[in-house]
Amino acid sequence: MTTQALNRLATAATAATLLLAAAAMPTATQAAGLSDDAAHQLAAQAGCPTCHAVERGAKGPEGLPPIGPAWRDVSAKYRGQKGADDALTQAVLQGSNPYDSHWKGKASGLAMPPNAVAIGQDDARKLVGWILRLDAK
Ligand code: HEC
Repeated sequence: MTTQALNRLATAATAATLLLAAAAMPTATQAAGLSDDAAHQLAAQAGCPTCHAVERGAKGPEGLPPIGPAWRDVSAKYRGQKGADDALTQAVLQGSNPYDSHWKGKASGLAMPPNAVAIGQDDARKLVGWILRLDAK
C-alpha cells in the first residue's frame, strides 16, 4: 500500500470516529438529567437517605421522623427559583448554616453537615437537579 493510500485510510478512520462521537452526543446530553434509578443510587452511595426521604411522611431511621426535609418538600420550596440549583449544591457540599436553618420546625435536624467527602461537585449538582425536578405533588 502506498503512503498516500494509508493516509486516505487514516482520514476515513478519523471521519468514522467523529461520526460515531456525533452519534453518541444526544445520549450524553440526556444523561445530564439523572434517571430516577441513577438518582436513588447516587443518593444511597452518598448516604443521603440516612437523613432524607424523597416522599413526605416517610419514617427516618428506627421509625423516628426524618432528620432532613423530604426532597419532595425541597422541590416544592425552591423549584423555579433563580440560582436555587447553585445554592442547594453548595449547601449539599459544604453543609447548611445552623444559625440560619431553612427547615426549622419542619425537619428534626437543625443543619446538614458537609457532604463533600461523600459526593463530588458534579454528582451533587446532578442530584440537586433531580430533586428540583421532582414534581411538587
Ligand atoms: C446527617 C444528616 C444529613 C445528611 C447525610 C444529608 N442531609 Fe441534606 N439536610 C439535612 C438537614 C437537617 C437539612 C435541613 C437544613 C436546614 O434546615 O437549613 C438538610 C437540607 C437539605 C437540602 C435543602 C437545603 C436548604 O437550603 O433548604 C438539600 C437539597 C439536601 N439537604 C440534600 C442532601 C443531599 C443530596 C444529601 C446527600 C449527598 C444530603 N442532603 C445528606 C440533613 C442531612
